[in-house]
Amino acid sequence: MRDIAVGLIGSGYIGKTHTIAYKAHTSVFGGPANPVCTALADAGQARADEAATRLGFGRAYGDWRDLVAAPDIDVVAIATPNAMHKDMALAAIRAGKHVYIEKPLALDAREAREIAAALEGTALVHMLGYNYLCNPIIGTLKALLDAGEIGEILHFRGRHNEDYMADPATPWGWRCSRALSGSGTIGDMGSHLISMAMHLVGPVAAICGDIQTVIAERTDGTGKVRAVENEDQAHALVRFRSGAMGVFESSRIAQGKKQGLAFEIVGSKGSVEFDQERMNELRLYDAGAPAGRRGFKTILVDTSCPDFGAFCPAPGHGLGYNDLKVIEVNRLMRAITDGAPVPVNVFDAVVIEEVIDAWLASAAGRSWIDLPPGA
Ligand code: NAI
Repeated sequence: MRDIAVGLIGSGYIGKTHTIAYKAHTSVFGGPANPVCTALADAGQARADEAATRLGFGRAYGDWRDLVAAPDIDVVAIATPNAMHKDMALAAIRAGKHVYIEKPLALDAREAREIAAALEGTALVHMLGYNYLCNPIIGTLKALLDAGEIGEILHFRGRHNEDYMADPATPWGWRCSRALSGSGTIGDMGSHLISMAMHLVGPVAAICGDIQTVIAERTDGTGKVRAVENEDQAHALVRFRSGAMGVFESSRIAQGKKQGLAFEIVGSKGSVEFDQERMNELRLYDAGAPAGRRGFKTILVDTSCPDFGAFCPAPGHGLGYNDLKVIEVNRLMRAITDGAPVPVNVFDAVVIEEVIDAWLASAAGRSWIDLPPGA
């Protein structure tokens, strides 16, 4: 089996999740290729050395440019704050490396299109970290929708709400900065919701949003009070190209929601409900059931769901968040080895950025925005 040398940039929250996934991948899936934690880069040599030792990477770089230039690296994985994605991705693509980029792809659609343009005409694999699409039960849900089991999709009501910034005492961080993050909760979590809605219902045709910054200032790690420059909460009315209606909601100050990516899809013959906090189950309502027997039933993940059996032969023995990354890494390995499609590539991610930009623009202009054809 071929080894694939991974160079990871960034060793924070999601950098660790990446590492867990690279290390677990081959024992879970047995192939088709073996990701090897070859090099890690972080901001400065000391931080990189510490992280490479702790996480188990072969060598460390204090400057990410050196990692990108290293001839033995096959894939550059970008797990840094959003503002760095573009330059890192462009450098990696120019160096002929496959790229695995955390979401959101960039600060905005203009930057995202620059990355996409650099990929035109290359044979490089490119994948985004929209890991929630890799949930085996979401695979079953997608198949069920495509087979028409709930009929025509009429409505999608989704939210990705968490409470990691609900406490005003939570320090100012890069996610509060326009320059480092771009948007706030929309890019951070709304992007996951948009990717899910597009995966299940199809492209968004138009959006009318509203946004709000509730906690206007926070104190940073040095004790300095700083402005929060992007939105804490947001919602939007949506029209999909299929004609279906939708409602999106995203908040980083939603008390009590921990991993609150959840949605309901209403069809002409039934409905489905999903909540990432109960990520191993799906709730399905069949309007064709006999009177007196109609109601939502709960379906637990089992080996009929894509990829679940690679982890465990036993139905209902659930997976966790980190396992979604293992599945995502397997998609990357399959794409590199066999040319298999990935869940979200850079071109798909450009469209997600266009929806984010339109959501923000519609909020600023207090009006509906039509997405460009093809978006
Ligand atoms: P974090 O703040 O925990 O980690 C960022 C890492 O980047 C740190 O190790 C930091 O030292 C490093 N870094 C900063 N500047 C650097 C530079 N110039 N060169 C090299 N390394 C540098 O951030 P977190 O939460 O891991 O987010 C990183 C990215 O991952 C973001 O784009 C975020 O949206 C995405 N993310 C995705 C998640 C998912 O479920 N797919 C979950 C969490 C984050």
